[in-house]
Amino acid sequence: MFNKRTRIKELLKSNSVDFETTVMGWVRTFRNNQFIAVNDGSTNNNLQIVVALGMLDDSTLKRITTGACIKATGKIIASLGKGQKVELTADSIEILGDSDAEKFPLQPKKHSLEFLREIAHLRFRTNTFGAIFRVRHSLAFAIHDFFNKKGFVYLHTPIITASDAEGAGEMFKVTTFPLDGTAPKSDDGSINFKDDFFGRSTNLTVSGQLEGELAAMAFSDIYTFGPTFRAENSNTTRHLAEFWMIEPEMAFSDLEDNMNLAEEFIKHIIKYALDNNREDLEFLSQRLEEEEKQKPQIERSEMGLLEKLDFVINNDFERITYTEAIEILKECSHNKKKKFQYIIDKWGIDLQSEHERYLVEKHFKKPVILTNYPKEIKAFYMRQNDDGKTVAAMDILAPGIGEIVGGSQREERLEKLTQRMNEMHIPTEELDWYLDTRRFGACPHAGFGLGFERIVQFVTGMGNIRDVIPFPRYPKSASF
Ligand code: 4AD
Ligand code: MG
Repeated sequence: MFNKRTRIKELLKSNSVDFETTVMGWVRTFRNNQFIAVNDGSTNNNLQIVVALGMLDDSTLKRITTGACIKATGKIIASLGKGQKVELTADSIEILGDSDAEKFPLQPKKHSLEFLREIAHLRFRTNTFGAIFRVRHSLAFAIHDFFNKKGFVYLHTPIITASDAEGAGEMFKVTTFPLDGTAPKSDDGSINFKDDFFGRSTNLTVSGQLEGELAAMAFSDIYTFGPTFRAENSNTTRHLAEFWMIEPEMAFSDLEDNMNLAEEFIKHIIKYALDNNREDLEFLSQRLEEEEKQKPQIERSEMGLLEKLDFVINNDFERITYTEAIEILKECSHNKKKKFQYIIDKWGIDLQSEHERYLVEKHFKKPVILTNYPKEIKAFYMRQNDDGKTVAAMDILAPGIGEIVGGSQREERLEKLTQRMNEMHIPTEELDWYLDTRRFGACPHAGFGLGFERIVQFVTGMGNIRDVIPFPRYPKSASF
């Protein structure tokens, strides 16, 4: 067996010294031919390895370079130097993998996030991305923990589908047909998918919700957690073409139950990260503070990262209707002075992220749940309210991000649902299986979708969504 090692995180937090151990990891720095700072990704803190003078020959010393992978065996002792409690005095050092110092792109200095995005295959080895992806892991774990404790069934919904769950037409096609124009055509000139792999037109899923609803009508409470794909041409700091989404779906639930669950859920996972990733969050908080120093005073956040997260878990989210939000926005001085790019002048318009952020950051200064949107700007499956104008939708808006959750109570009345689908030109024949839930034992039910990367952004304080997913996909970019 090769792997007999102790993780650096364990060594640094243990209080015992004077024992033999082995560590393996990647060299961050090597000073004076004597002090190696090594990191194994279990924590951002490096272990200092002390090499006695004369212990290694010159050719081995030369191979201890930034980026090289090493195995070190020796004794853990109380550190003589400053900055660390313990260090390892090496008895032996083995180079597991060389790294040419001239060519290794990560130097022990500050690199820009843009540069690191270009070398995303190596950026895991920096402190910033080490912290981000350990937090991302914890949040994913906390999500499963939350729903598991509540008795929800984790449902794996398909990635290849034949439907458009959001009815927005933002889908990536899936086909094995050649792209050279020789794909079979129907009489009307359109591609005939009968002979394609699935015998029909298929695409990557935009949401697991519709399948989730089917399962909720059997298990009562389910959730999905998987990748979703949107071919929307949005080049923003909050959009990805491939992102992960968590979608719980609950039978016997209305809009209020939905909001309550979403709020409890978000607070639970943030608290989990605060309790389990303190060190990484402190590092990220510091990073954000440094970054914000570059900004003009007025654009800086009022709270530090940890303070903001504490605030969110300890305070109720504000809950207002879309109609109330429009009133606030219409009357605010920002709107009157025409400082919004899109002026709010009438009920019915879709809110842009500048409006969402105004409500959250300037007006309420806390997360806001907006409810009961005009039906024209929401999906076909949302439950129609008695006013004939709005639907039982809810979006949760977070400071610095905007929308992190989109959800609704679902239209469980067959007639109302098919009527709305017809109005919106959603083909009812193709979604006949979905309509079956409304034919056989329908009940009031509700659910929502949390954009995973958006909550990771919120918790880590990262400004760009491309920095919180290992290998981001966005317009004109699918490297690695
Ligand atoms: O609001 P959306 O489109 O809602 C749905 O897909 C519903 N089927 C959810 C449900 O009710 N089960 O997306 C939900 C969330 C958004 O609030 C946002 O956080 C995230 O998914 N999201 C994106 N995240 C990154 N990049 C994109 N292009 C995203 N589009 C949506
Ligand atoms: Mg939405």
